[in-house]
Amino acid sequence: MRAPSAADRKSLRQIILFASILLFFIMMTVLQGGTRAIAIDPGVRAGNPGAGAPIAGLTTNQLAFFTTGQDDFMQVQSVLGSIPGTGSGLGPTFNGESCAQCHAQPSTGGTSPFTNPQIGAASAEGATNQVPFFITPNGPVREARFPLTPDLRQRDGGVHDLFTIAGRSDAAGCNLAQPDFLQAAKNGNLIFRIPTPVFGAGLIELIPDSTIRSNLSSKSARKRNLGISGRPNTNGNDGTITRFGWKAQNKSLEIFSGEAYNVEMGVTNELFQSERDQSVGCQFNGTPEDLTHFDQDGPEIPSDVTKFAIFMRFLDQSQPAPATTSTQRGLQIFHSIGCALCHTPSLTTGQSSVAALSNIQANLFSDLVLHHMGPSLADNVSQGAAGGDEFRTAPLWGLGQRIFFMHDGRTSDLVKAILSHSSTRNTRYPGSEANAVIDNYWRLSVQDQQDLLNFLRSL
Ligand code: HEC
Ligand code: HEC
Repeated sequence: MRAPSAADRKSLRQIILFASILLFFIMMTVLQGGTRAIAIDPGVRAGNPGAGAPIAGLTTNQLAFFTTGQDDFMQVQSVLGSIPGTGSGLGPTFNGESCAQCHAQPSTGGTSPFTNPQIGAASAEGATNQVPFFITPNGPVREARFPLTPDLRQRDGGVHDLFTIAGRSDAAGCNLAQPDFLQAAKNGNLIFRIPTPVFGAGLIELIPDSTIRSNLSSKSARKRNLGISGRPNTNGNDGTITRFGWKAQNKSLEIFSGEAYNVEMGVTNELFQSERDQSVGCQFNGTPEDLTHFDQDGPEIPSDVTKFAIFMRFLDQSQPAPATTSTQRGLQIFHSIGCALCHTPSLTTGQSSVAALSNIQANLFSDLVLHHMGPSLADNVSQGAAGGDEFRTAPLWGLGQRIFFMHDGRTSDLVKAILSHSSTRNTRYPGSEANAVIDNYWRLSVQDQQDLLNFLRSL
């Protein structure tokens, strides 16, 4: 037998190369195609929003307040109100120009829309803001918090607004710089929050503390086996359960409205009277900028803050899509693997002085209490009883039409949102209470996972 020539060796190498390329493509096709390795998020549900309408059973007068409140919720603010169609009081610092800008998807009251309104807000009316690196045209609306003060010496945790009114035609003479977000990011001192929806918020407000507590102590053996505990956040003064916001840090819709008006938009009001930034040259109005209209009658009398709260209180819960065989199986799996131990499918309101809100079943898919979610979700911000890794079980009603997930909007993929629940302990925080449930998710067949995802997107 002759020794292989250089030409033989060359063609052998070519055959091996060709065979490996072929094998590679076959493997890629198998992984991506026919025998799909994982279940896939069906994506944002199209069609009827099923959200944004008033709750059934309101009186004619209550409906008038709902409509007026909705108009105010959508009203764009300017600094002086001298721009047609705007109210007054924006700034000196702000994250957005109207409530509805951030609470938009799939209808007024919801969450971040597909196109980020903060890009436009940065330069509206000639404002000279730079768009921070974490705000992108198709990304979520975000607000920023610094866990520590910029010099990293003390606890902070508060919201640092993205924009200032400097350069706007209605804010002549104000020269206020934006915070240095790049430096904060370099120091590991920057965290984000995205908007939560307010559909059905009036029902959340009216769930009795006793209902929340007895739900928390139910199914205790199963919860213990899976490592799930949880505790309510409470108000330091009256001791009752607080329930709004990613950390259940706020007591009521009226307090949230007053705070959001001042924090997100810079509008001082009867609940929050002080401008957050008091730089000379940037104060254009007396405070509070929003107040009770003593000179008027009917639904116009209350302050904007009260009207926002009334609008949200009367806003109905999101309606899910009609059930299918797959979504029904998905709901069973949601129960059987333990998601429902935190995401309680429904809680019922107590007796309310507003008949339409009395004894209503709220299908919120939340227990409204805090859980340790582990180091990878931790944001190192404490609010009330909530520590740096504790979050309120996010209500899942309306989830089918939500674009961005988790407190910081880290993903638009439902599968990644689920998997991000799991993380193991580090020196600072315990492991996530959801770890065992996420292990259960991994053990599901692809079909079962898919049914679960289909169920979630039907909400
Ligand atoms: C720049 C965007 C932005 C604007 C403008 C804005 N919000 Fe929000 N909203 C958020 C974010 C972000 C959160 C979550 C905050 C958190 O929990 O830390 C939120 C949460 C809420 C919640 C809590 C809902 C729940 O289920 O817990 C309410 C209520 C609310 N906003 C009302 C309002 C009102 C009323 C206005 C107008 C005065 C407003 N928001 C303006 C971004 C915004
Ligand atoms: C230990 C309690 C717990 C368990 C168990 C749990 N979750 Fe969650 N879930 C949370 C908390 C808390 C958040 C908010 C965390 C954050 O944003 O950092 C959340 C957020 C979510 C979100 C994102 C919602 C949004 O608006 O961004 C989805 C989707 C979700 N959970 C689905 C599931 C599914 C499906 C399961 C079961 C496989 C599950 N969860 C199990 C507590 C839990």
